[in-house]
Amino acid sequence: MEPLLFVATIFLFIAPASSISFSEFIHPNFTASHVKFIDYGGSFLTSHNGTFKAAIVNTRSQQNSFYLCIIHVLSNTIIWSANRDTPISGSGKMNLTPKGIIISDENGNLKWSTPPLKSSVSALRLTEMGNLVLLDGFNGSLWESFHHPTDTIVIGQHLPAGESLSSAVSDYNLSTGDYSLTVGASDAELQWQGQMYWKLSMDTKAYVDSRYIVDYMAINRTGVYLFGNNGSAVVIRVVLPPSNFRIAKLDASGQFTVLRLSGSDLEQEFMGPDDGCQIPFICGRMGMCADDATSGSPSCSCPAGFHLASQNTSGCVPSDASHSLPVACNSTRKESLLNSSVVSYLRLGYGMDYFANHFFQPSTYDVNLSFCQELCSDDCSCLGIFFKNSSGSCYMLGNVLGSIMSSSTVDSDLVGYIKVLVGPTQADLNPNNSSSNQNQDFPLVALVLLPFTGFFLFAALGFLWWRRWKLHKSIDSKSGNPNTLSSGDLEAFYIPGLPQRFDYEELEVATDNFKNLIGSGGFGAVYKGILNDKTIVAVKKITNVGVQGKKDFCTEIAIIGNIHHVNLVKLKGFCAQGRQRLLVYEYMNHGSLDRILFGNGPVLEWQERFDIALGTARGLAYLHSGCEQKIIHCDIKPENILLHYHFQAKISDFGLSKLLTPEQSSLFTTMRGTRGYLAPEWLTNSAISEKTDVYSFGMVLLELVSGRRNCSPRSQSHSMDSNSSGVPSSSSSASALVYFPLLALEMHEQGKYLELADPRLEGRVTNEEVEKLVRIALCCVHEEPAIRPNMVSVVGMLEGGIPVGQPRVESLNFLRFYGRRFTEASMIEEENGQSDVTIIPRANASLTSTTTGFPTCFSYVSSHQISGPR
Ligand SMILES: *[C@@H]1O[C@H](CO)[C@@H](O)[C@H](O)[C@H]1NC(C)=O
Ligand SMILES: *[C@@H]1O[C@H](CO)[C@@H](O)[C@H](O)[C@H]1NC(C)=O
Ligand SMILES: *[C@@H]1O[C@H](CO)[C@@H](O)[C@H](O)[C@H]1NC(C)=O
Ligand SMILES: *[C@@H]1O[C@H](CO)[C@@H](O)[C@H](O)[C@H]1NC(C)=O
Ligand SMILES: *[C@@H]1O[C@H](CO)[C@@H](O)[C@H](O)[C@H]1NC(C)=O
Ligand SMILES: *[C@@H]1O[C@H](CO)[C@@H](O)[C@H](O)[C@H]1NC(C)=O
Ligand SMILES: *[C@@H]1O[C@H](CO)[C@@H](O)[C@H](O)[C@H]1NC(C)=O
Ligand SMILES: *[C@@H]1O[C@H](CO)[C@@H](O)[C@H](O)[C@H]1NC(C)=O
Ligand SMILES: *[C@@H]1O[C@H](CO)[C@@H](O)[C@H](O)[C@H]1NC(C)=O
Ligand SMILES: *[C@@H]1O[C@H](CO)[C@@H](O)[C@H](O)[C@H]1NC(C)=O
Ligand SMILES: *[C@@H]1O[C@H](CO)[C@@H](O)[C@H](O)[C@H]1NC(C)=O
Repeated sequence: MEPLLFVATIFLFIAPASSISFSEFIHPNFTASHVKFIDYGGSFLTSHNGTFKAAIVNTRSQQNSFYLCIIHVLSNTIIWSANRDTPISGSGKMNLTPKGIIISDENGNLKWSTPPLKSSVSALRLTEMGNLVLLDGFNGSLWESFHHPTDTIVIGQHLPAGESLSSAVSDYNLSTGDYSLTVGASDAELQWQGQMYWKLSMDTKAYVDSRYIVDYMAINRTGVYLFGNNGSAVVIRVVLPPSNFRIAKLDASGQFTVLRLSGSDLEQEFMGPDDGCQIPFICGRMGMCADDATSGSPSCSCPAGFHLASQNTSGCVPSDASHSLPVACNSTRKESLLNSSVVSYLRLGYGMDYFANHFFQPSTYDVNLSFCQELCSDDCSCLGIFFKNSSGSCYMLGNVLGSIMSSSTVDSDLVGYIKVLVGPTQADLNPNNSSSNQNQDFPLVALVLLPFTGFFLFAALGFLWWRRWKLHKSIDSKSGNPNTLSSGDLEAFYIPGLPQRFDYEELEVATDNFKNLIGSGGFGAVYKGILNDKTIVAVKKITNVGVQGKKDFCTEIAIIGNIHHVNLVKLKGFCAQGRQRLLVYEYMNHGSLDRILFGNGPVLEWQERFDIALGTARGLAYLHSGCEQKIIHCDIKPENILLHYHFQAKISDFGLSKLLTPEQSSLFTTMRGTRGYLAPEWLTNSAISEKTDVYSFGMVLLELVSGRRNCSPRSQSHSMDSNSSGVPSSSSSASALVYFPLLALEMHEQGKYLELADPRLEGRVTNEEVEKLVRIALCCVHEEPAIRPNMVSVVGMLEGGIPVGQPRVESLNFLRFYGRRFTEASMIEEENGQSDVTIIPRANASLTSTTTGFPTCFSYVSSHQISGPR
């Protein structure tokens, strides 16, 4: 009796105490297997305070697949696994040798190992943060599990830029799945088989704090962060309630989740995308995802004309048995396996969308549907198209077909067409030839690359570039032009959201060797060009700033290129080759506002002026508060307001201040902005904010009212003849030289708004209509930036939703000073025949490059004078 009792006591003593019976260190030569440590659930190592343990375990439903894992003890959560793609049996072994960790099956065949190390191992340690570290004889780190994450990071762990997390196949099969989270130069993004479908900055909880190049992603007790500037600056932050323990995980479903410890459970506190239908493969291939209005969760079905595939895990197939979905060709071979005469397209209904439409530029614009389908038919990696009739945009669905989103908010103009092969046997002809979208090959590839996650990423991205290049090429060959991107121009880095990249030679041809100059601005000249696909573009050749590094340049371009608003000129692409930096914009066929407003052509009617004012205000409001990052334009003036059909205003040149290097920012303060539109704070050392743009907008608004430059001499015949009673006092001394903003202030004080309207309108405007714009304009030019309205309020006032503000005269008195100076300077100029008497503090030689032909405008300012009105 007694010996038996003794054994039982020992056992009871050991089992509950298992978490403290191991140290945080083990030393070579050490061997563990699940069977050997079965009494401890396979665990053989615990961290100092027992927060984490290392163990050889299986997961539910996987009786014969064991993995070497690091486990968070309290929540029983696996945060890392060594041999995720090569599980072993319960008697498979882990050996710690002087050369590292070796995992082998029960017959001694190698399944996984750490890479060759610099020196021999003296210990393996599991730290309190959950990091498994191989130590050398001096306790130096030889290898760390933190540097080779699987699908999870924990507090204290950094996920460096260029590296990624890869999802598991399922919650129970830890093999590498198809989703990845990659930290890029400016964001963290989710990809499915190399195609982006979400970015951290897209989330409403994410704030973009700075524009540094991202160094790494990390989580801490208060949130999720992307850090830049060598870890000292936050680039993007998601602030979460304080918690002592949390993990960030790319879960098997393709959602990036952050979980916090609550009791002994992990509780989800953040996920992206939060709309499940945005996950590319949520409903399988060709499955249709709809947000269930009642449950709020996505529900899957098949689109019309499709039914569930017989293997119900694989999504939907065409209902017509003679149609089959093609598999994309092997990407390394370009010639099509398909005979295009048997290719057909199944049209999806309205209200359908595809995730990639939001992350990839259309392959081409301004084509018709048959051309778009032909492009797809000629490309064996294309599996379908989405076509937008109004713009002729052709989106190709490439390489792997995911799920379709059904949404009521989709553009009714966007229609999808899925490529099918006609003839029942076609799909079965070569199922093995076509492997690029088949899962079974994926883990094998991933296994080889797993120790080099960076390389894996690189391969996927290289593939993306290749695809872009190929699309480009197929368009070129269509139009018979041999121009293609040279492979030498393909970059090793990848920046999400980068717009189309052009060859310098291509732009040279498009612009006929930069022949047709259509404008010039602070950053360089603008030329008209025609691309291979016959799209007309405006090409800006950046000459006035130093050459920025290609990667930095591209990072900024990606930000600018991602800003889309109907009142902002769209950046179509760019070129960064050698020292050349060019930007390619959509071409606005009605030119810029200055030409129409100040030119001798037909008079702009009041309603058109109002529409332009409202469009410009909306564009600016979007720049200031609608995009991920606040963008201050810094150079609002009629030259930068371009007009499209129906006098739709589009702001150009926004975001270009981002292209300056920090060293150039002192230059920036002097070269940006154009006299006459520059807010007073430019000339003092006050902070530049979005209110600086509000001031410039106010000045432009006044010009819209008067139809003349604020600073141009008003000719007697126009402003004075019609209404001599309204001759303002300030003009009496100097014939007809009037600083219009001052005239506006004076007429506002007298309530005589009609005096200010462009005489060419000949009364086709009422006093009330002019009053509205003039009052808004005066509020915008308040000297004190804080009491200028923001652009969102300006839009509200213009639209009528917000009452128009009452200008504060005490903050407008500086206009009297400016007006007096203006008049004096104009007189000096008349006497001397001098065109430019400007003295601007902080100015240097580059200033002259922005002179746009209205030299007297700021002549009243000099460094000692500006303190006058303050
Ligand atoms: C571990 O094993 C290797 C070879 O099996 C042997 O050379 C080495 O001395 C052993 N190390 C220790 C610490 O026992
Ligand atoms: C372990 O816990 C003790 C007390 O709870 C604490 O003082 C110590 O810092 C912890 N050690 C580590 C490595 O976290
Ligand atoms: C390494 O660390 C362990 C535990 O902290 C300590 O006992 C040992 O002395 C250290 N060895 C060296 C060479 O510093
Ligand atoms: C886990 O997933 C991989 C990849 O899909 C598959 O090859 C493997 O058979 C799965 N393992 C188990 C045990 O189901
Ligand atoms: C988490 O990191 C952010 C960014 O560096 C920092 O502001 C915050 O204080 C950190 N939180 C904790 C609890 O350390
Ligand atoms: C980055 O920071 C680390 C440690 O904080 C420092 O050793 C390193 O010199 C820094 N690198 C640069 C380029 O500033
Ligand atoms: C289809 O789904 C049902 C229930 O979801 C499952 O029981 C069955 O095994 C599945 N069939 C195949 C072939 O996957
Ligand atoms: C594509 O085909 C080439 C040659 O035919 C082959 O070497 C390569 O492994 C294939 N790639 C894939 C992903 O199947
Ligand atoms: C394509 O199919 C058509 C009709 O099925 C056939 O006449 C033609 O020869 C085929 N072309 C090729 C290149 O196989
Ligand atoms: C579509 O465009 C192509 C070339 O741009 C042209 O040849 C063809 O006739 C057009 N088709 C239709 C139906 O308009
Ligand atoms: C597509 O656009 C063309 C020209 O823009 C138009 O004539 C045609 O009616 C449109 N088709 C549809 C289906 O909207």
